[in-house]
Amino acid sequence: MTKIVWIKHAAQLATLAQPSSAPRIKEAMNELTIIEDGSIWIEEGIIQAVGTTQELEEQFKDRAHEAEITNATGHLVTPGLVDPHTHVAYGGSREREFEMRLEGATYMDIMNAGGGIHATTKMTREATEDELVEQAKKRLDSFLKHGVTTVEGKSGYGLNLETELKQLRVMKRLQQEHAIDLVPTFMGAHAVPTEFKGREDDYIDLVVNEMLPAVANEKLAVFNDVFCEVGVFTPEQSQRILEAGKKVGLIPKIHADEIESYGGAELAAKVGAISAEHLLKASDEGIKAMAEAGTIACLLPATALYLREQAAEGRKIIDAGVPVAISTDCNPGSSPTTSMPLVMNLACISMRLTPAEALTAATFNAACAIRMENATGSLEPGKQGDVVLWGISNYQELQYLFGVNHVKSVWKKGVKVVG
Ligand code: NIG
Ligand code: FE
Repeated sequence: MTKIVWIKHAAQLATLAQPSSAPRIKEAMNELTIIEDGSIWIEEGIIQAVGTTQELEEQFKDRAHEAEITNATGHLVTPGLVDPHTHVAYGGSREREFEMRLEGATYMDIMNAGGGIHATTKMTREATEDELVEQAKKRLDSFLKHGVTTVEGKSGYGLNLETELKQLRVMKRLQQEHAIDLVPTFMGAHAVPTEFKGREDDYIDLVVNEMLPAVANEKLAVFNDVFCEVGVFTPEQSQRILEAGKKVGLIPKIHADEIESYGGAELAAKVGAISAEHLLKASDEGIKAMAEAGTIACLLPATALYLREQAAEGRKIIDAGVPVAISTDCNPGSSPTTSMPLVMNLACISMRLTPAEALTAATFNAACAIRMENATGSLEPGKQGDVVLWGISNYQELQYLFGVNHVKSVWKKGVKVVG
């Protein structure tokens, strides 16, 4: 029998539908296309109809008895949230570094002393594929409980051919074994591994000549990301890695201008990256170049909070005409969280996004940042039935009542996975 889910009488059904499928900029980020007393009909995992409850009652009057009905009276309903930037498939944990930072050490001090990314690399190399799958599954379960139905995940804790491939294969398995859609990114250029210290260009040769072709050959990733930062990879080195990725079909992304202003935003525009991440210290020229190129800014306010840094200038970046997405950056060092609702709160509080902009940044624009906008990110016929029912009545409340998980029920591809 056909599986039909019918959600009726939502106080607000925020569809995020708009005529254009381009990432939303400026005023369009405030347009949520809300239907009051809204209703959505999902059949075999795919949305068939969205409208008022009255409209759908009319349209499906002969088939109402076939549907599993949820009465959403008094509740907000939105698309499943999308997290477009995570490092979810890692081994171990680094709580001692959290204490060290509170005692005064900086993120870079810790990394240069062999901790940080290097510590997680060691634990990820030592873990078996099964162990990594088990650890990541728990994080994905937590994402679902926070209303997130699609997640991007990066490698970059292997930093050698074998472990980079292992991390990507773990993500491939998770895509099959977990309800969440997991979109994989290769990030062999996350750091120069300690065994290549002082021989940075030799490591880049390894990334370009061996890792990228192997990843492409096994079709293990869609994107190629680089940590372009003082003391990690220069803009020139980053460009070399991203251009090499393009040659084997991988779309560029860049961790840009997080700790120092380094030309990362400019480089993102120049190489045609789909998105530039972090951007705490992005220059005005870089922001302008991104607006002109249509590069998405993926902003990570939980990371800034966790490192006790000033968040990126989200308000200014949106006003400059750059499409903005937001993300947890879920990783064991600078942002060990799976809470996209918290990230939406912080987007308003620390970056001055409006409540509506924060929801657009966590749904439709986030889907665009990982090329998933045809499948998810808005509630429209033909898209996946990825839906969240919140225990509150409107979208402003979602951002206003902060630090609390308001998720009541979640459907992924029309299957109820939470609540
Ligand atoms: O996006 N900035 C670089 N990479 C991660 C942190 C990784 C880690 O500390 O393990 C980030 O913040
Ligand atoms: Fe990151």
